[in-house]
Amino acid sequence: MGRIDIFFASRDGQTRKIATVLRDLLAESCSGDIALIDLEASGLSCDEIGQADFTIVAAPIRYGYPLAAADRFLRAHLRNIPPDRLAILLVCLLARKPDRTSAQTNGYLRRWLKKLAVKPALAAAIAGRLNYPAYRWYDLWMMRLILLISGGPTERTAQVEYTDWRQVADIAERIGHLCEGAVQEIGKLSLTPSR
Ligand SMILES: Cc1cc2nc3c(=O)[nH]c(=O)nc-3n(C[C@H](O)[C@H](O)[C@H](O)COP(=O)(O)O)c2cc1C
Repeated sequence: MGRIDIFFASRDGQTRKIATVLRDLLAESCSGDIALIDLEASGLSCDEIGQADFTIVAAPIRYGYPLAAADRFLRAHLRNIPPDRLAILLVCLLARKPDRTSAQTNGYLRRWLKKLAVKPALAAAIAGRLNYPAYRWYDLWMMRLILLISGGPTERTAQVEYTDWRQVADIAERIGHLCEGAVQEIGKLSLTPSR
């Protein structure tokens, strides 16, 4: 297999953790280069974006919107990334409900894909982490209110990792298959004699 680029943005670390686990799972099952790239780190070189055989973009939701770095990245570079070689992963607490993990059932993901006007080969919402002790007071109170309304924990000390790691493993497996398909397609194209 060729090259996979995993771009991620993360404020509190859970999307970074998910992206890292994905990288490790893909590295176990596939040969080839896998790059893990923090969209908020300085020195991101844009020259080679879209050159990978498969691109993954992962971002968390904050107050209804994906982190700006990921949104900006996709708006700027989407035209260079073939949608059949792209996966978009959204991390949020809404996805702790198992019936809110697909592009059809997760409103954040559906709206983002619609706004970007893209149909990636794979799109999924993954449950993130709740960590009240780490939040500043405004975020703490807002998050407690959001969780109160949506039936989650509200004790100020609550820390819950909702991420379904079986879902992450399943996503890694599906991406592995998509990558194999992409590499075979590219191989076929390069074997097609030019006239
Ligand atoms: C300030 C703040 C706002 C958030 N807003 C939402 C939201 O609107 N909807 C949601 O489902 N999850 C929301 N979350 C939950 C995050 O998406 C979740 O904690 C995720 O794991 C954060 O990813 P990160 O650790 O990579 O930054 C919010 C979290 C914080 C701290």
